[in-house]
Amino acid sequence: MAIETLVEWMKNSNSTVVLTGAGMSTESGIPDFRSQSGWWQNIDPRSVASVESLQHHYELFREFYQMRIEALTNIEPHIGHQILADWEKRGLVALIATQNVDQLHHKAGSEEVAELHGNIVTIRCTSCVKPHTIEHFLNNSVCTYCTGKLRPNVVLFGESLPQEAWNRSFNEIQNADLVIVIGTSLEVYPVNQLPRMARGKLVYINLDVSGSTRQFDLVLEGSAGEVLTKIDQKLALF
Ligand code: APR
Repeated sequence: MAIETLVEWMKNSNSTVVLTGAGMSTESGIPDFRSQSGWWQNIDPRSVASVESLQHHYELFREFYQMRIEALTNIEPHIGHQILADWEKRGLVALIATQNVDQLHHKAGSEEVAELHGNIVTIRCTSCVKPHTIEHFLNNSVCTYCTGKLRPNVVLFGESLPQEAWNRSFNEIQNADLVIVIGTSLEVYPVNQLPRMARGKLVYINLDVSGSTRQFDLVLEGSAGEVLTKIDQKLALF
């Protein structure tokens, strides 16, 4: 029943925005953060993913991001990413606002993607901000222009979000007829404030729905790949 309701809402929506988190990438083999098998079960994020770690524990910072970048090798988008990319092409999704830094939405073919937490596949110098290759970062090299330290273009704890991605996501979610939130615990500020900005229908697709879901008009418990496949099958009739 919930799937049919969502399909109806999608058909009648003039603008649908999708907000994704790490749960969108676990079926591609990338751990999320707060599930039992998540990154933060064994690592304190402040020690490796914060401005403080970049400035005062650079080696730990660099090793953590080297590990996460290398974990992306041979990782492919799964059926859920592909369905969202197909829905964009069919005019069913106007924007994907993502917290994910793996660019799997892009790899699946989505073009309208706002990276709210940046990404770990592009590198810059912390001092002169000039771009560098991933190889340069993985080889533990310094900036070729100013010998400054290199870092991924990811938003660290303690940093503000990229203005353009935030403004676009905020505005499009506010004006959307339908917002579908997929694979996120909604524990991290300020992205966790975005669903409440929605003036249209608000839907949650998540493996764990034990938290507070009263802000949602519809909750679909399950994995992103499976639920999106079921929705897509119903949509096929449309
Ligand atoms: N399908 C649907 N939901 C899933 C799946 C899946 N295959 N796998 C995991 N989930 C759900 C989990 O139940 C959990 O509620 O996705 C959610 C992932 O939550 P987090 O691990 O907290 O990830 P996220 O919400 O994206 O974290 C936000 O925290 O550490 C920072 O910058 C990091 O962007 C990240 C932010």
